[in-house]
Amino acid sequence: MRKRLVAGNWKMNLTVDEAFKLVDHLDKNISASPKVDVVLCPSMVALEPMSQKLKPMKFQLGAQNVYFQDSGSFTGEVSAAQVAGLADYVIVGHSERRMHFGETNDIIARKVSAIVRNKMTPILCVGENLFERQDNETAQVLRDQLTADLVMLTTREVANLVIAYEPVWAIGTGEIAKPEQVSKAIKVIRSTLEGLYGQAVTNEVRVLYGGSVVADYVADYLKIKDLDGFLVGGASRNPYEFAAIVKLTQGSGAGKLPKLTKALKS
Ligand code: PGA
Repeated sequence: MRKRLVAGNWKMNLTVDEAFKLVDHLDKNISASPKVDVVLCPSMVALEPMSQKLKPMKFQLGAQNVYFQDSGSFTGEVSAAQVAGLADYVIVGHSERRMHFGETNDIIARKVSAIVRNKMTPILCVGENLFERQDNETAQVLRDQLTADLVMLTTREVANLVIAYEPVWAIGTGEIAKPEQVSKAIKVIRSTLEGLYGQAVTNEVRVLYGGSVVADYVADYLKIKDLDGFLVGGASRNPYEFAAIVKLTQGSGAGKLPKLTKALKS
């Protein structure tokens, strides 16, 4: 039985002080549940101080990026070996890194391997852009990304993975993917993994949806077969909204939700 997971990707937002304030709010609004892993992914500067203070029963930590070499003359980079011990998860292959930092599938494959080598769990993001969707290439893009990004892992290592289906056109745009679209993509992701690594391993892999997720859509998404949770961007910095998403995923009601702040910019 796979455990659900909700991860909040804070992206390049929040100072360390602001990060702690947000954690305080989240702490007040979210109860620990054995049913759902809640992973907070702050910026690299907040990761270390947060790792000292966070209640491990309630929240786990994720990094937003690492470099694939463990050490060396790579000015400005932070390695998976350095992040290990501070974080349990690392987001990798996010479309913003593919787009703005030129990360190719080859680089992503090396990062995935470094994350696993250093005993953390990759949250590997895959997804098509708008043109690819319009050209009916979604399935092919997902297959290509998965095949290339996981090429350095053993079958056993794949079992521990988290994959986030993140259609690029739905990220930070307020435009959400319809449950049918997400459901189709998840089928492609799972059948690709099954073809490459077999059914038993695939059954252990958790698959999330990410892209403009807010609490209002969560109940519908949770009806999707084989969806195990969410990677949340903008809404993860709104403590009430994020808490509501977590609570719904835990199977309890969203609780009283103050009106959502309109501009949830990524
Ligand atoms: P969003 O971001 O929820 O703001 O669309 C999701 C993500 O980038 O993972």
